[in-house]
Amino acid sequence: MKTIGLVKEPDFETRVCLLPKEVNRLISNFGIRVIFEFGIGAQINISDKEYFEAGAIATSSERIFTEANFIASVNSVYQGQQIREECEFLGIYNFGYFSERIENYLRPKISVSSLDLLPRTTQAQKMDVLSSMASLNGYKAVVKAADILSQSIPMFTTAAGTLRPLKVIVLGAGVAGLQAIATAKRLGAVVEAFDVRTTAGEAVRSLGAKFIEVPGYSESENAGGYAIQQTEEYLKKQKSLIDQHLKTASIVICTANIPGKQAPVLIDQTAVDHMSPGSVIMDLAAEQGGNCELTENGKTIKYNNIKIVGDSHLVRELPESASKLLSTNYYNFIHHMCTSKKNEDDLLKNCSVIEYGILVHNQLQMKFHTT
Ligand code: NAI
Repeated sequence: MKTIGLVKEPDFETRVCLLPKEVNRLISNFGIRVIFEFGIGAQINISDKEYFEAGAIATSSERIFTEANFIASVNSVYQGQQIREECEFLGIYNFGYFSERIENYLRPKISVSSLDLLPRTTQAQKMDVLSSMASLNGYKAVVKAADILSQSIPMFTTAAGTLRPLKVIVLGAGVAGLQAIATAKRLGAVVEAFDVRTTAGEAVRSLGAKFIEVPGYSESENAGGYAIQQTEEYLKKQKSLIDQHLKTASIVICTANIPGKQAPVLIDQTAVDHMSPGSVIMDLAAEQGGNCELTENGKTIKYNNIKIVGDSHLVRELPESASKLLSTNYYNFIHHMCTSKKNEDDLLKNCSVIEYGILVHNQLQMKFHTT
């Protein structure tokens, strides 16, 4: 019988990967035993009693590692603790970018699946942690920017005069970008968006925003719907167009990313020099270098009276909502694991990074052999 262990996350991580409701479903549907570390849900106001009532058993971190043969977490990285004979880890590791994390798991008894490697297919949607987190991130970026800004966003017509609606620019119209557009529109902003994928244009326009297209982009059929790195010439053309639009923007939401790579720099210092004082840049690509040259990951800086927030995990400020979505994603993935054969299933194969200490993921193998 499988024993799933839920370990507490590091201090910076407010989210939890499985909530009592999904724990109970795992126990009743698959006869799985679930053990959890004392205080696992404290950050989101869920008591040990609720996990206990769902059928799980509270224990210490040490016992989880020695008893569980499957350990699920959002952001906890294995540090070489003593484990039982064989153990499989499930998390969101982003090994493509944080390659140093992989070393910890290359041990004979360990297997690892990483949910950021799920293919972006319809079948995978209900397990797609990147989409659910990106969506909340995009929403929070706009709400937070609106809070930081010293101006109101929508048009106000009053006896004292009219306040014009503010302009919001969204760089990257993927999952986070589209949610940011929808949220900014709901707040009454005038919204413009850039993306290299022309297919994003239709979605942008359907939300009532203006899509600004830069001709000459490159794409690849093998990129699984993701953007690929663009040529220097394209980026130059794109940057100059973005610069012109930034001059009249009050909020810029940066979400442009390329999986496993450095995020494209779309706003340089000169462009920020030309922006209106008081504007806000929310750089959600900060963890992978940021879309703005001045971004500092994990920090809010002030440059020429412009605030630049470098945070790829704003979702940690919405831990209850984020944990609800994650818990459903993790449950659906574990359900899929319990009902499919790993070596015959594309979804599971794509997420499998390490099997019994051996790196088995094709793209990561290529990356590690070329670096
Ligand atoms: P992401 O987080 O990797 O990137 C965000 C956005 O940045 C993307 O739209 C990308 O095209 C854009 N970008 C990259 N370089 C850029 C540049 N130089 N300038 C401007 N924009 C740039 O992407 P995300 O949000 O994870 O979505 C990836 C793809 O997966 C999208 O095509 C999305 O629609 C698709 N998807 C499909 C699902 C499905 O079930 N079929 C579910 C979720 C996503």
